[in-house]
Amino acid sequence: MAYNGCYGVAVMGHGVVGSGVCEILYHKKDLLTQKSGKTPVLKRILDLRKFPEAPYASLFTDDFSLIEQDPEIAVVAEAMGGLKPAYEYVKRCLLAGKSVVTSNKELVAAKGAELLEIAAEKGVSFLFEASVGGGIPVIHPVCRCMAANQITEIAGILNGTTNFILSKMIYEHTSFEQALATAQELGYAERDPAADVDGHDACRKICILASLMLGKEVSPTEVEPQGIRDISLADVSYAGAYGSVIKLIGRAKLLENGKAAVTVSPALVPKSGRLAGIDGVFNGVVVRGDEVGELLFFGRGAGKEATASAVVSDIVEAAGQDGNPYLFWKGGCGNVDTTGADQMAYYFRTERSELLPGLAQELFGEVCFLSGEDTPQDQMAFVTGVMEEKKLLAGADTLAKKLPVYAALRVLDY
Ligand code: HSE
Repeated sequence: MAYNGCYGVAVMGHGVVGSGVCEILYHKKDLLTQKSGKTPVLKRILDLRKFPEAPYASLFTDDFSLIEQDPEIAVVAEAMGGLKPAYEYVKRCLLAGKSVVTSNKELVAAKGAELLEIAAEKGVSFLFEASVGGGIPVIHPVCRCMAANQITEIAGILNGTTNFILSKMIYEHTSFEQALATAQELGYAERDPAADVDGHDACRKICILASLMLGKEVSPTEVEPQGIRDISLADVSYAGAYGSVIKLIGRAKLLENGKAAVTVSPALVPKSGRLAGIDGVFNGVVVRGDEVGELLFFGRGAGKEATASAVVSDIVEAAGQDGNPYLFWKGGCGNVDTTGADQMAYYFRTERSELLPGLAQELFGEVCFLSGEDTPQDQMAFVTGVMEEKKLLAGADTLAKKLPVYAALRVLDY
């Protein structure tokens, strides 16, 4: 509810992102008023901790009901992360007629369909630009600016931590373990790095984008991500010999059967392509639409200021309108393709064997053998031609029965 040209805002969670949101709301009131014609007033901050040094120290509370029951709070920014208690609190805010904006990709990927439906019923907004690509606007462009398009493919580097690690491996020849330790020292990776390095974070993000592409739910429970723990410097070297670099790619491609092939895996991408030069903690997303062709979104995919930038922009948008019909997907499962109909090439690294050239030819047709620098003498690597993934997977199974296979990676053209 707006009062005297103002609207009340609450922020749930005063961690990295939440504190960034509070700081922008507190220090940039004039700019935000200029953008929307209404003044945001920070009214409550939900956190179990107290921050006595903050200029808005008096606003902290650990009582959610003070937010839920305050009629002057029109927009709630959720930056707690995780599902508990974020899911319950967000749902209760929407049911209380408040708009909610969030950076919480776990929440959006798991509960987005339900929360969007409640928001639509209540005529309020549920916005989550910050949940994918941090500060990079990608959800709004996909849903609004590309409204004339059937989106056919979305692929990108969606996790900054793994991109930092892979960049260290590619350009400084640092081992995975050393690069991960550096990422942890710099505060990029969590103490438990599993969500980043095992691909779960990127999986949630590509599932959100895939759901928007299809207008139907793509749940992370239906996609098995492959992380970067097993990538070795030998793979980096062989990829270089093929004119490629290895990136963790989240990808959703619309297939003829109406379903989406959705994958998260390290992949070889060409050095001359759109994603190869996106290094460090930056993210990049390629989106293909049937009218506009290909677009590339690039920028800071994580971090306090960048993520808070997207959250506050959503707050301003939510305050200015009654709902967001352009943002929608229908709940349900079975929208992920399981037939392996997508087309691509594969890279394999195996034990060295005289049998390999004949075997590879028999399984995959013409292949390209690679000679990397400083690669183990007892190993070999090759790249297949482009074919249906089911054929590649069947070939990989047979290959693994004859020889130790150390790596099998997608080769993608972005
Ligand atoms: N851990 C995430 C990343 C943070 O490294 O990209 C932003 O979602």
